[in-house]
Amino acid sequence: MRRSRFILTLSVLVCSVSLYAGTPVYKDAGAPVEQRVEDLLQRMTLREKILQISQGFIGTNDNPNNVMDNFKNFPPETGSLIYYSNTSELGNMLQKEAVEGTRLGIPILFGYDAIHGFITEFPIPLAQAASFNPELAARANEICAGECYDAGVHWTFSPMVDIARDPRWGRVMEGYGEDPYLASRFAEAVVKAYQGDDPSQPGRILSCLKHYVGYGASEAGRDYTAVDISRQTLWDTYLPPFKAGVEAGALTLMGAFNTLNGIPASANHYTLTDVLKEKWNFEGFVVSDWGSVEQLVNQRAAADLKEAAEKSINAGMDMDMCDNVFIDNLEELVQEGKVSVATIDEAVRRVLRVKFRSGLFENPYRDVKDADSVVSEQKFALAQELAQESMVLLKNDGVLPLSADSDIALIGPIAEDKDIVLGGWRSHSDSKHSVSIREALEGEFPGGRILYSEGCDVAGSGTDNENPYGHIRDEAHDYDYSHAVRTARKSDVVVLCLGEGKFWTGENKTRASISLPDDQIALFDKLCKLGKKVVVVVEAGRPLDLTPIESRASAILYIWSPGHRGGPAVAGILSGRYNPSGRLPMTFPYGIGQVPIYYNHRASCRYSPWGDYIDGTPMAPLYDFGYGLSYSTFKYSEITLDGLTAKVSVTNTSDRDGKETVLWFVSDPSCSIARPVKELKYFEKKLIKAGETVEFVFNMDKVRDLGYVDPEGNEFFEGGAFIISAGDESLNFEMY
Ligand code: BGC
Repeated sequence: MRRSRFILTLSVLVCSVSLYAGTPVYKDAGAPVEQRVEDLLQRMTLREKILQISQGFIGTNDNPNNVMDNFKNFPPETGSLIYYSNTSELGNMLQKEAVEGTRLGIPILFGYDAIHGFITEFPIPLAQAASFNPELAARANEICAGECYDAGVHWTFSPMVDIARDPRWGRVMEGYGEDPYLASRFAEAVVKAYQGDDPSQPGRILSCLKHYVGYGASEAGRDYTAVDISRQTLWDTYLPPFKAGVEAGALTLMGAFNTLNGIPASANHYTLTDVLKEKWNFEGFVVSDWGSVEQLVNQRAAADLKEAAEKSINAGMDMDMCDNVFIDNLEELVQEGKVSVATIDEAVRRVLRVKFRSGLFENPYRDVKDADSVVSEQKFALAQELAQESMVLLKNDGVLPLSADSDIALIGPIAEDKDIVLGGWRSHSDSKHSVSIREALEGEFPGGRILYSEGCDVAGSGTDNENPYGHIRDEAHDYDYSHAVRTARKSDVVVLCLGEGKFWTGENKTRASISLPDDQIALFDKLCKLGKKVVVVVEAGRPLDLTPIESRASAILYIWSPGHRGGPAVAGILSGRYNPSGRLPMTFPYGIGQVPIYYNHRASCRYSPWGDYIDGTPMAPLYDFGYGLSYSTFKYSEITLDGLTAKVSVTNTSDRDGKETVLWFVSDPSCSIARPVKELKYFEKKLIKAGETVEFVFNMDKVRDLGYVDPEGNEFFEGGAFIISAGDESLNFEMY
C-alpha cells in the first residue's frame, strides 16, 4: 500500500516536471508504463477522458470519401472503434486523424470479432475444443492474430469462454463447451496465442475474455434472457475459465448482456469489481457488450440512460461499447456528484495502460496488405490439421475407413458446400479458398468413383438456408429424391453429408428444435431403404439430436463447422489417411426433452443418475461428454497412485497409429458442499503407435483437484475418500 502511494507520488512528480519541460513522459517509449499513464491522464480534460472510455464503430460504408463522416458520431479522440475492414488502409486514415489531428495524439484501439480466424478460417471454437488439443488451437489462433495485426486490428473480442449446457443456444459454437476445466485450458492457450508474452510484439494482438459472466446460462437457450445461477454455481462452473484467462494475462474482458441474479452483468459490482479487480487483481479494462449499458433500461435496472451510465461505471465497467451512453451522460453525472472523477480516472487509467502495454503509441499504423496476399498453403495445412483433430467419429460399424477403390455415392446438401462450412461468426474469410468435401474426395479416392447428387437443399425445397425458422418445423416437403436414390444404387457405399444451414448458430440464433431438417431426414430414410451402408457426415455449430439417424447409420462423423479445409479433413478420415481423435466437448442429448443435460451435474438423492422419464426416453444421453471413437483400439492399465501422482498406461492394441486423449475425472463422494458427480481435472492427448504402450501421468494438487470452492470463491481441501477415473478404469483412495 505504502509502496504504491510512493510510486504514484513519484509518477506525479515526474509528470509535473515533464509537463513544464515540454517532453511529455507519455510519449517516451522508455518510460515505465504507469508513469506514462499518469502523465497522460493529468493532461486530459474530462471530455477527453470520457471519449477515451467510449467505443464506436466504423460502419459498413468504408468508401474513403465518406469515412471521415464517422467522426461525426465518434470523434478521433474516441478510445476505440470496432473495425470492419479487412485491410489497414481505412484504419491508417482514421488513426492519422487521432495521432496527428488531436491535441494529445492518443491512438485509437481498433477491435473486431475474429472468433476462429480472420482471413484463414479455422474450425469454430466448439470444434477446437473437440480436438482436446489446446496447443494446436493456439497455433491456429496465432495465425489469426497475425492476420488481424496486418489488417490493423489491435484487439479481438475472443476467446468466448461462456460455459454452455444448452444446445438450443446459438452461441454454443463460439465457446469451448460445457466443461469449466476444458474451457479454462483453451482460454489460457488462446489468450497466450493472441497476446504472446508481450502483446506489443509484431503479430500479436489483445485478447478479450467474454461474456463476463453467466451469459451461457441463458434460460432455455433463448439469447439475451435473464440468468439466475447461484453464487456456488457461479464459482464452480462459470467463473473458472475467466479466472484462467486473467491468470494467462488477458488484458481485456467484455461484460455480458444478461442480468445475473437480478443485477445486470454490465452493472454488477460484485463480478466487475469485487471479484475481477479486487480478488483477481485484474489490471486491464472491461468493455461492455454492444449496447449493454443502454439496455439496463430494458432490463428494468435503470430508469433512463443517465442512470444506466451511472450504475455501469460505478460498478466497474471501463468502456462503453457503441451506445454513446457514457459520452452523453458522464459529464453531467460528474457535475451532479453521482460519478466521481476518480472513478472515471480509474477507467481511463486502465484503458491507457492497455494501450501502452500493447505498443499502440509506438506502432499505431500498419503496412497495407491485400487480404488475398496473406493466405498460404502453410496456413491452410494447419487449418486442415485442426479440422481433422476436431472431428468426432460417433459411430462406426466397421464400414470406415473406406477402401481405396470404393465407388462412393456422395449425397447431401453439404457435400459440395464451400460456404456453410465456414461457420457462424466468420470473419473476412472468402469461400473461394474452401475445398469442398466433393473436391477432396475426388482427390482422395483416385482408384474409385465419386458419384454425386445433392439430394435436397440444406433447409428444404425452395427455402432460404440462412433462415432456419418455420420450415424445419414443417412436414417434409414432397421432394424428388429419385436422382439421389439412383446415384446411391450405382455405388458400393453412401456418404451422406447433412447438417445445419448458414448462420444457424451464432448470436441470436436460438433453435427450439435441434433436429436435422425434415427433408434431410427423409433423404436419409430413402437411402437407408436401399440396404447400402450409409455413412453420415454431419456439419453443425451445435450438438444436434441424432436419434432419428443413429441406429440406422453405419457410421456418423460429426464435423462441426470446420472452416476452409473441412473437405480434405473429412476425406482424410473417410479414407483412413487420418485416424479420428476428436471428443465431444458437450453432451449430446437423446432428444430435446433431456436438455439441459451435462455430465458434471450434482447427484440425485436417488440412485438413478439421470432421473426418470416415463415416456420411454432413456435416462442417459445419446453420447457423453468426452465421447469419440478412433480406428485404433486402446487398452487402459489399472490406475496407480503414488502420493498425489496418478498414472495409467495405455496400449494401442490395433495395427494403426492413433491419438488417444486420456481424460482424468475426480469424484468426491462426501463434502461440506456437495461436488458434482464427477469433474474433469486434467487431460492429455498423445500419439500411440500401433502395438505401443504409453504412460499418462496426472500430478494432482490437493486444493485444485480434490478441493472445493465456496460461494465466495474461497478454496478448501477436505480430507476423505475420493475416486479418480480414466477411460473405464477407476481407483478409490483416501487423502488427508
Ligand atoms: C456480441 C459480442 C461481440 C460484439 C461486437 C455483440 O453483439 O455479443 O460477442 O463481440 O457484439 O461485435
